[in-house]
Amino acid sequence: MTERRILVTAALPYANGPIHLGHLVEYIQTDIWVRFQKLRGNKCIFICADDTHGTAIMIRARQEGRSEEDVIAESKVAHERDFAGFDVDFDNFGSTNSPENERLCGELWQSIRGAGLVKEKDIEQLFDVQEGTFLADRFVRGTCPNRACGATNQPGDNCSKCGSTYTPAELIDPISTLSGTTPEIRKAKHLFIELEQLHDFLDAWTKSDEHLQLEVLNYLKGHFLGDASTPEGRKTLRDWDISRPAPYFGFEIPDSPGNYWYVWFDAPIGYMASTLQWCERHGESFDDWWRNETTEIHHFIGKDITYFHTLFWPGMLKSAGFNLPKKVHIHGFLTVNGEKMSKSTGTFVKAETYLKHLDPSYLRYYYASKLGSRLDDIDMNLEEFAAKIDSDLVGKVVNLASRCAKFVAASGLSTNYPDDGGLFEQAAAAGDEIAAAYEQCDYNRAMRLIIELADRANPYIEAAAPWTLKNDPDKSQQLQDICTIGLNLFRQIIIYLAPVLPRIAEQTGELLATPIKHWNETKTPLTGTSVAKFKHMIKRVERKDLEKMIEDSKEEDVTALPTSQFNDSAEPLKAEPLAEQCTIDDFVKVDLRIARVLTADDVPEANKLLKLTLGLGGDETRTVFAGIKEAYKPEDLIGRLVVCCANLAPRKMKFGVSEGMILASGPGKADVFMLGVDEGGQPGQRVH
Ligand code: MSP
Ligand code: ZN
Repeated sequence: MTERRILVTAALPYANGPIHLGHLVEYIQTDIWVRFQKLRGNKCIFICADDTHGTAIMIRARQEGRSEEDVIAESKVAHERDFAGFDVDFDNFGSTNSPENERLCGELWQSIRGAGLVKEKDIEQLFDVQEGTFLADRFVRGTCPNRACGATNQPGDNCSKCGSTYTPAELIDPISTLSGTTPEIRKAKHLFIELEQLHDFLDAWTKSDEHLQLEVLNYLKGHFLGDASTPEGRKTLRDWDISRPAPYFGFEIPDSPGNYWYVWFDAPIGYMASTLQWCERHGESFDDWWRNETTEIHHFIGKDITYFHTLFWPGMLKSAGFNLPKKVHIHGFLTVNGEKMSKSTGTFVKAETYLKHLDPSYLRYYYASKLGSRLDDIDMNLEEFAAKIDSDLVGKVVNLASRCAKFVAASGLSTNYPDDGGLFEQAAAAGDEIAAAYEQCDYNRAMRLIIELADRANPYIEAAAPWTLKNDPDKSQQLQDICTIGLNLFRQIIIYLAPVLPRIAEQTGELLATPIKHWNETKTPLTGTSVAKFKHMIKRVERKDLEKMIEDSKEEDVTALPTSQFNDSAEPLKAEPLAEQCTIDDFVKVDLRIARVLTADDVPEANKLLKLTLGLGGDETRTVFAGIKEAYKPEDLIGRLVVCCANLAPRKMKFGVSEGMILASGPGKADVFMLGVDEGGQPGQRVH
């Protein structure tokens, strides 16, 4: 087969947040695929970048009193460090805020304009007068405009209760979450791409299951394209609003001063800009990668950004005359122990935190064993995680080497490959099936096939029991032969696993004095080479390390205050939009009692917490961790009466179990005011 030229991208992570285990599903999945292609001898490059533009970064920079460039630069260092820590090895990691990107955006823009796809429309948008900015959908909350629903505290684009979609200007009683003020409606000119003009093209392009997973095709048809075979079945694609008026952090549109490209216009072009940087470093031609039909372009993304990559992006590429993606590979979302990742339970684990406690190879193997070629969500069950690593990697794979290597450290491998009853041949023959599974991103199947090989190799070693021969000088040839077989079966498995476990593959190369370079090395046994002293490759998963990682990921609790006041920003409190309505039945479930502060202690490791013991009358007490350290000295609290929620389910926090909450208000930090109780209140009295 001739060598393929393959350009692979993973979605560009937002520069305004840390890499976490959810992101890593994608970056590990993609890295495995790239390493597999390289091992097969294909010419393959892995391209990524930080996604830097848009309102979120702008607001954050403003809140932190620094420039956007500063935020971006800091985040790039952190992202690159985290990716390297997980052996995610990009050929180029760029930034969408680069001169290359601005230039390419201009080029694509011209072609798209030239093709007659751009039109102008005045639209009404909410404007926060205090902050001096138009408000993106997620910075507005208000009441659902659907009369039958009327749910309060809904976001600016769709109602979480009845599901209806609307524009932020249609929301009833809108509130800006940036300033807490009521925004006003202002008209502004926006530029739109008329996607409907590309309907026939998109219909044809998406139809081929070569480009998209079948589930994705059905989703696009059902939601956006409709069924083109009948006039009634066909849906109309909505115009795509690709500009934002100033102030906006991004690139100004050259022929529309005061307007900026919307972040989702320049983000995918970032794939190209990052490729361009790589080409310049390696003396390669950009057009060979983006304007040459023999190049395969593969995008890996999560299901939440399907729309952008399967409709807008192919539409843009088509209009501007670039290569279309050969395939968009879409994966599902990560859950931990069956639930969405959560900061309060410690399952929102940052890449950095994981690496403080656990070996990155564990996660790479675990994700590989969970990933199939469909869009199902992936659940990381921590018990299963530990059990799988221990049983497969430690017990079945590395064990093969650790039980053989030491007996041949002096002699090296036998000069002829001994008779192994066909084991090596059999494993070599499995190579095509394993490769096909990798190619289709069905890593779960690939891992099963590989572990089956280990399941055949292990009984051989057990029966041959090299450790029983080591002191018998007459059996030294037999011992060398058994270990030659054992180590070759091990090496074959490691070559198959090399895309997943690059570190162990490298160590195996050192152990047997022969670096692993090509998939086809599984077909020929190694003979006569020296064997190095066996070095530790992987250890069992310590359950206590897993627990420490979860503990370390628990964010300090926010007892007594709504969570939004304790987000990362140094922002003073902005008005809290109203929560969803509750019924009187909901309300009376909350048992509020007067309580006396019996003890109050500082929690030195926490920035915000004091540990209180509250007396509720009689012997009834509660231990409560309250986020009021900056507002009260512990000694001033003792003896005071407070109001507490006495029937809150106890929650395990980083520093202990919290059994209730005290009521307080205020913007946070030093300005927190506990709810006062008139003298005469008695501990234990219910508050109505
Ligand atoms: N910046 C955009 C992508 C622009 S691509 C031109 C973005 N960034 S992101 O940081 O939010 O997400 C990056 C990738 O990680 C996306 O493909 C997203 O689907 C994926 N994931 C983010 N959280 C995830 C999980 N919890 N689980 C699995 N994948 C997740 O979207
Ligand atoms: Zn609604």
